[in-house]
Amino acid sequence: MILLPPEVVTVCYIVAAVLFILALKGLGNPRTARRANLLGAGGAAIAVLAYMLSVELRNPVWIIGAIVVGAVIAVATARRVQMTQMPQLVAAFNGVGGGAAALVALVEVGHSESPWSLVVVAVTVLIGGVSLTGSFVTFGKLQGLVTTRAVTFPGLRALMIALVLAAVGAGAALVITGDAVYAFVLVALGLLLGVFLVLPIGGADVPIVISLLNAFTGLAVAASGLVLANVLLLIAGTLVGASGTILTMAMAKAMGRTVTGIVFGAFRATVAGASGGGASDRPVRTMDADDVAILLDYAQRVVIVPGYGLAVAGAHHAAAELAEVLRERGVDVVFGIHPVAGRMPGHMNVLLAEANVPYDALVEMDDVNPRFKTTDLVLVVGANDVVNPAAKTSPGSPIYGMPILTVADAQQVVFLKRSLNPGFAGIDNELFFDPKVSIVLGDAKHTLTKLLSAVKTTA
Ligand code: TAP
Repeated sequence: MILLPPEVVTVCYIVAAVLFILALKGLGNPRTARRANLLGAGGAAIAVLAYMLSVELRNPVWIIGAIVVGAVIAVATARRVQMTQMPQLVAAFNGVGGGAAALVALVEVGHSESPWSLVVVAVTVLIGGVSLTGSFVTFGKLQGLVTTRAVTFPGLRALMIALVLAAVGAGAALVITGDAVYAFVLVALGLLLGVFLVLPIGGADVPIVISLLNAFTGLAVAASGLVLANVLLLIAGTLVGASGTILTMAMAKAMGRTVTGIVFGAFRATVAGASGGGASDRPVRTMDADDVAILLDYAQRVVIVPGYGLAVAGAHHAAAELAEVLRERGVDVVFGIHPVAGRMPGHMNVLLAEANVPYDALVEMDDVNPRFKTTDLVLVVGANDVVNPAAKTSPGSPIYGMPILTVADAQQVVFLKRSLNPGFAGIDNELFFDPKVSIVLGDAKHTLTKLLSAVKTTA
């Protein structure tokens, strides 16, 4: 078989790298994100093909078979998964990426002679292991298979210190002896570290962890690029590592946290303020859609606060239509967007863009908070943690310190949700019992549809 000359392969790698960068840029905006995804996938396809056509493949049947099996699983999963389950899918794929980097590095132990390459192998297998299990525990938290509360136990801190020291020891032994056994020990330690790093991180901080693990996977892939002397892996891994790090810092800032505070503070985490049953006996004020329509009739300034429940219910089109109907009547309506509302960065922006809500109607937290004082009515649609005052008032609470949308400053607040159950962080919301707050119990789409027809008939 004729192999591609190295110059052609280099050109293909440069094209792929440029496509990756364009993809990252395009993913920053919902309008260009779809095309950006295709550009990234195209870059990856070019890179894989260029590599496969440039070397004598020793096991082509196995390699092509593995690609086919992987592609079938990925396409089938991606087609079946609901939009609301996307973060879990991303977490799982991220873990698989870290695991793959660790496997590649393990295979390379026998071929690495210089201490430098063994250092890189040690780093790759460790980070890859952490990323694999850390991502799967995160997957479990997002899927509801693992509690979203911070899980801590006496001795956790000592256990973590012991694991880190053991990893340093095993890494040093690997570099000195080159014995593959130490690489396997490092993988095992990385797998354990991943579990114990993520378990103590409580609900509201999970978004930051997802992003941090993503950055870890990027680093592991970049390191495996060094191991294999593959420039493209190095570039792709660095892009993922750098963008993951920037996203992690940005999200931590938006949440009023520091990354080290989340990772190390987790060992001190408590579950104070946590409940989870929503089974308070205190009375709450309930309403139905017709009552809300009457409130809307008198409202001049309205803010709709969307949350995860809006996505679950698929109520974004109804919410967009309600805003449009009110706007046509001269009501000042905006959507108040919290940076971690939903389950992935930009979740609400993407949903509302899909429902053709104009960008200027989406007002970010820092800009919308001062508006609440002059707002007549806030509709909180399937949101909970992002408006929970415990973040300001309960120092022991897992969400304490997280900035929230200060909806209680408005004249009236109406929640649209199915029960008094808590949100992702698993903590009760005192706001439900505030005299200016009412709740319309039920699925958000169902309630909004009824509300919309009630509003239209009162027009
Ligand atoms: P949550 O606090 O999770 O609250 C969502 C609420 O939606 C729930 O209380 C639920 O109450 C309600 N709900 C669910 N299905 C519904 C339906 N069909 N109709 C109406 N309501 C429904 O959501 P949030 O306020 O958006 O906050 C996000 C949370 O997720 C934060 O803790 C954040 O840290 C975490 N998180 C965010 C991300 C990112 S990056 N955005 C990633 C991972 C985790 P009922 O069951 O009573 O209906």
